[in-house]
Amino acid sequence: MNRTIANIIIDIIAAFLLLGMIATGYLLRYPLPPGSNKSLSLWGFTRHQWGDVHFWISLGLLLILVIHLVLHWNWIVTVIGKRCHLIKTEHPSLIRTGILSGGIVIFMLTLFTWAAQTSVIEIARPMRGNHFGQTHQANESSEITQAPISINQTNVEFWKDIYPIFEHNCLSCHGPQKQFANFRIDRREDFFGSNGRTLLILPKQSAISPLIAIVSGTRKDMSMAEIHKLSDQDILKLRKWIDLGAEWPVKMDAEK
Ligand code: HEC
Repeated sequence: MNRTIANIIIDIIAAFLLLGMIATGYLLRYPLPPGSNKSLSLWGFTRHQWGDVHFWISLGLLLILVIHLVLHWNWIVTVIGKRCHLIKTEHPSLIRTGILSGGIVIFMLTLFTWAAQTSVIEIARPMRGNHFGQTHQANESSEITQAPISINQTNVEFWKDIYPIFEHNCLSCHGPQKQFANFRIDRREDFFGSNGRTLLILPKQSAISPLIAIVSGTRKDMSMAEIHKLSDQDILKLRKWIDLGAEWPVKMDAEK
């Protein structure tokens, strides 16, 4: 392949990757801001997953930049090297300068990663509740899974733990008497996207289940959004139930 064509292809790929970085960077800054990983999803990906996409695009861009440098190495060594009086001979060895430059870069990167690895410190922050003065590990997953409410991890029963939440908070507007948004809380299929309805529950994925966004107040584009908010304890129970598979056993009326 012609050298010029190779250069053009490499530059076009670099331009696309750069646009990809800008686009995913925008997603991570505005539509999916920090802290939204557990409540929002965009085109099927959460904030962390978009972060991964951003990361891999940036690695690709780095690789392309290295190829770009290699393709221009002759020019860099002869023109820049001579102009800056770094190279004195008429025909400098490209391989030797390449190895030397690569070595310097790798050395600096190693120094940097070592400094970064060894300098991470824990931020002491007060615990919620009465334990003032005690510290609490900065742990990303602590917000929801380790909230100071304890519920039985392995056993959430639908008719005992979950349905009463719906019955108490939702039935008056989404039940036999009224059916706002044509949604009934006492109709199993209304939660699982039948008849062209929006899916409210994704079993085992409470973080991206629209029902959780509605009852935790994250979703604001509906009327009476405030009314739909549940207590932290109830949200936690719902999340646990969804994460365990959102089982909704059919029961005979007489058993209820
Ligand atoms: C005071 C009445 C009222 C109560 C109580 C209520 N809702 Fe609603 N709900 C509404 C109204 C009104 C709408 C229509 C909102 C709209 O279309 O903007 C709605 C819409 C909805 C929708 C459809 C949203 C969509 O995608 O269009 C769902 C799901 C829902 N409610 C779930 C619940 C749940 C779960 C509860 C209990 C935690 C609950 N609602 C309690 C009045 C209520």
